[in-house]
Amino acid sequence: MMSTTSLNATFFVKLMLVLMLMSPLQAQQLQVGFYSGSCFMAEFIVKDEVTKAFFRDRGLAAGLVRLHFHDCFVRGCDASVVLDSTPSNTAEKDSPANNPSLRGFDVIDNAKARIESACPGVVSCADIIAFAARDSIILTGGLGYDVPAGRRDGRVSLIAETRALPPSTANLNQLTQMFSTHGLTQEDMVTLSGAHTIGRSHCTSFSSRLYSYNTTVNQDPTLNAFYASQLMQQCPKGGPDSVVPINPASPTITDVGYYVDILNNRGLFTSDQTLLSTTSTANQVTRYAINPLLWKTKFAAAMVKMGKIGVLTGAQGEIRSNCSVINN
Ligand code: HEM
Ligand SMILES: *[C@@H]1O[C@H](CO)[C@@H](O)[C@H](O)[C@H]1NC(C)=O
Ligand SMILES: *[C@@H]1O[C@H](CO)[C@@H](O)[C@H](O)[C@H]1NC(C)=O
Repeated sequence: MMSTTSLNATFFVKLMLVLMLMSPLQAQQLQVGFYSGSCFMAEFIVKDEVTKAFFRDRGLAAGLVRLHFHDCFVRGCDASVVLDSTPSNTAEKDSPANNPSLRGFDVIDNAKARIESACPGVVSCADIIAFAARDSIILTGGLGYDVPAGRRDGRVSLIAETRALPPSTANLNQLTQMFSTHGLTQEDMVTLSGAHTIGRSHCTSFSSRLYSYNTTVNQDPTLNAFYASQLMQQCPKGGPDSVVPINPASPTITDVGYYVDILNNRGLFTSDQTLLSTTSTANQVTRYAINPLLWKTKFAAAMVKMGKIGVLTGAQGEIRSNCSVINN
C-alpha cells in the first residue's frame, strides 16, 4: 500500500516534469483557429480582401500563393518577404527573385490594415500570408484546407538569403536538395510545383531554353518545338521582358493542367520539365495528370506542411503593426 502510493507520487512528479519540459515544444505548434478567441474576424477579413482583389485581377491569386512560398523558403514563414528595404538594408523584396515578379503585397497590406483596426497587435503578417494563399487556392478551384496559425513575424529580411529560392534552371537533384533543406521530400516538391498551374512568368525566366541553351544547341530539346516557336513570338530575342501564362490552357484555374503540360513537353521552366527525368517523379506526374482529386488533396496537405517551415511562435518574433516595417 505504502509503496504503491510512493510509486504513484514518484510517477506523478516525473509526469509533471515531462509536461513542464514539453511545454516549450507545445508552444511551437501552430493551431487551426488560433484567432478564434482573440480576433475571430481575422480569417474572414483576409478572405474578403483576397476575393475583392481576385475579381479585380485574377492573377493576384497566383501572386499570393507564390508569396507564401517565397516567404517560407527564406527564414521560414515569418513574413520576411514583405518587409521593405531600409537605408541600411536591402530586403528580400528587392532581390531579382522577387522584384519585379512577386505580386500581391497590396492585398496583404489591405487585409492587415482592416485587421489592425478590428484587433490591434494580434494577427501576424505571416499568418495573413498563409491564409491569403489558401483563399487563393480555393478561389481558383483548388481544395480548401484549414491553416494552422500562430506564426509570429520576423525582424530580419536579407537579400542574400533569397539564395534559398530555387532558380528556374534547376534540375531534379538541385530541386530535391533545396526542398529537403526545408524538410520537404521530393514527392512534396513534385506536388507543390503543381502551383505552376496558375499564374504567369516573365520571358527572362525561360528564355535561355529558347535562344541559348548550351554551346552546341540553341534550344532545349526537352521543350516541345511548336510550343517553343509560340514562346519565341511572345518573347522575341532582345525584346521587352513580357509575361506569358505558365499553363496557357487554364492560367487562372487550379487544375492538373500543369502536369498534363509536362507530359506533353510543355513544362515552361527547366525546373518543371525536369520532373520527367526519373521514373519515380515521372510516375508521380502521370498519376496527378490523370487524377485531379489526388493532386488537389496532396497539394492541400503539402501547403500545410510548407506553411510550417521555420515558423516563429510563442514569444519569438513580434506581431508587426505594418507588414512592410518591423516594429520600433
Ligand atoms: C520547384 C521549384 C520552383 C521554381 C524553380 C519556381 C520558379 C518560378 C518562376 C521562375 C516563376 C515565374 C516568375 C516570373 O518570371 O514572373 C514562378 C511563378 C510562380 N510560382 Fe514558382 N517555382 C517553384 C516552386 C513553386 C512553389 C512550391 C509554389 C507554390 C506552392 C510556386 C508558385 C508559383 C506561382 C503561383 C507562380 C505564378 C506567380 C504569378 O503569376 O504572379 N512555385 N515560379
Ligand atoms: C547541349 O545539349 C544537348 C541536348 O541536351 C546535349 O546533347 C549536348 O551534349 C549539350 N552540349 C553541351 C556542351 O553541354
Ligand atoms: C506601412 O509602412 C509603409 C512604409 O513605411 C508606409 O508607406 C505605409 O503607409 C504604412 N501603412 C500603414 C497602413 O500605415
